[in-house]
Amino acid sequence: MKPTASPKTYRVKSFGCQMNVYDGERMAELLADKGIAPAPEGEEADLVVLNTCHIREKAAEKVYSDIGRLKKPDGTKPLIAVAGCVAQAEGEEIMARAPAVSMVVGPQAYHRLPQMLDRAVAGERATDTDMPADAKFAALPARYSGRRRSAPSAFLTIQEGCDKFCTYCVVPYTRGAEISRPYKALIDEAYRLVGAGAKEITLLGQNVSAWTGEDDKGHRVGLAGLIRALAELPDLARIRYTTSHPADMDDDLIAAHGEVGKLMPYLHLPVQSGSDRVLAAMNRSHTAESYLRLLDRFRAARPDLALSGDFIVGFPGETEAEFEQTLQLVDAVGYAQAFSFKYSPRPGTPAATMDGQVPREVMDERLQRLQARLNRDQRAFNEASAGKTCEVLVERRGKLPGQWLGKSPWLQSVWFEGDAAIGDLIEVELVEAGPNSLGGRLLGRVSA
Ligand code: SAH
Ligand code: SF4
Ligand code: F3S
Repeated sequence: MKPTASPKTYRVKSFGCQMNVYDGERMAELLADKGIAPAPEGEEADLVVLNTCHIREKAAEKVYSDIGRLKKPDGTKPLIAVAGCVAQAEGEEIMARAPAVSMVVGPQAYHRLPQMLDRAVAGERATDTDMPADAKFAALPARYSGRRRSAPSAFLTIQEGCDKFCTYCVVPYTRGAEISRPYKALIDEAYRLVGAGAKEITLLGQNVSAWTGEDDKGHRVGLAGLIRALAELPDLARIRYTTSHPADMDDDLIAAHGEVGKLMPYLHLPVQSGSDRVLAAMNRSHTAESYLRLLDRFRAARPDLALSGDFIVGFPGETEAEFEQTLQLVDAVGYAQAFSFKYSPRPGTPAATMDGQVPREVMDERLQRLQARLNRDQRAFNEASAGKTCEVLVERRGKLPGQWLGKSPWLQSVWFEGDAAIGDLIEVELVEAGPNSLGGRLLGRVSA
């Protein structure tokens, strides 16, 4: 490649899960620290970071079409870095197939992006997909140490990687083995987030309930211990966490849902299927029944808990009767929200070569039936919320003048009109329930 001018503007485009979004924010900070400015809205940047996701087929294909499309107003290509999980899984291929790409950087190596960029400007192409993740966190500069402001709701990655090896999933390969970030580093980062204006922190990990660390007294603590410590931060109003695996939910975490007021009444606990045969083939290490009993215990600790889950339809060998067991599980739980996907064979995973791959039409039809039920339950949950009074954390302006949008404790989108500002906690009465959001009536400001 030819040497190019140093980029003046950047854009980071994140396509994946919340952890991918967190990584995108950290890469943006690294570039800003190098004196590069975010590109103005609607204008192509000198440097584009495609922060990719590998979880399903479509997500990976998108990368190449994006690379093809990127063009600056003068018709030249920007500097392109491919980051994220596709970079990790297919780094060499990307370099071979897409000459316009000058940097490929994996999710555990992006702390070295600034040095890679210097080399790219000098005309050198480079790939860095080293693991493991702990080196990255130790090397990243402190977050929000400058005068930057945080959004009212901020992400904080506390755990990375996954040792569960569900047979359909690429994450253990793209993110590597489970590691927990140290307690003190997390408390420090949370302090800085709150100092920069965050009112809510969502603790992130591929398997967040497996987090473990040593507190300031040298005691071994789990996720619940970390949540209790964060609840002591005076200006932090809300704590959430995602995503958990049913196998790692301990008694202390269940108890924390009943005891820690700042821990929001919401639990995202993926189940994937309601059939024990399918769950075993997925290597999920829980049954439909053990999942339901676990939810009972959470609900006993926090009766108003809103539940969310992930589902896969059409896993290899899934029969109609097995799919119907998933529908029965949905009926038994009554989810407030859920995410459902067609099974997507991922290269290198055991399920990709299993017998009984389910035809696309069957998957389409099952997904439709499942989503009809999930939508029904989401609507019912929202309708049951009407008449309640709750706090809403204001995240942005609505479409109409004087209108605001925020989140209820149960993670519902709530809009209301009146005197408010982004970052306020507002007391509202929920008056109007729609399928995807609720309308509220402003009662007063809880805090500014
Ligand atoms: N660590 C989390 C999130 C994993 S990815 C967890 O275990 O819950 C998020 C969701 O994507 C998964 O819960 C699963 O429902 C879905 N998913 C993962 N791999 C998939 C695949 N190969 N095909 C379709 N959906 C998949
Ligand atoms: Fe993937 Fe399973 Fe790990 Fe979740 S628990 S990241 S679905 S392997
Ligand atoms: Fe996608 Fe990687 Fe997250 S594959 S879902 S960006 S961990």
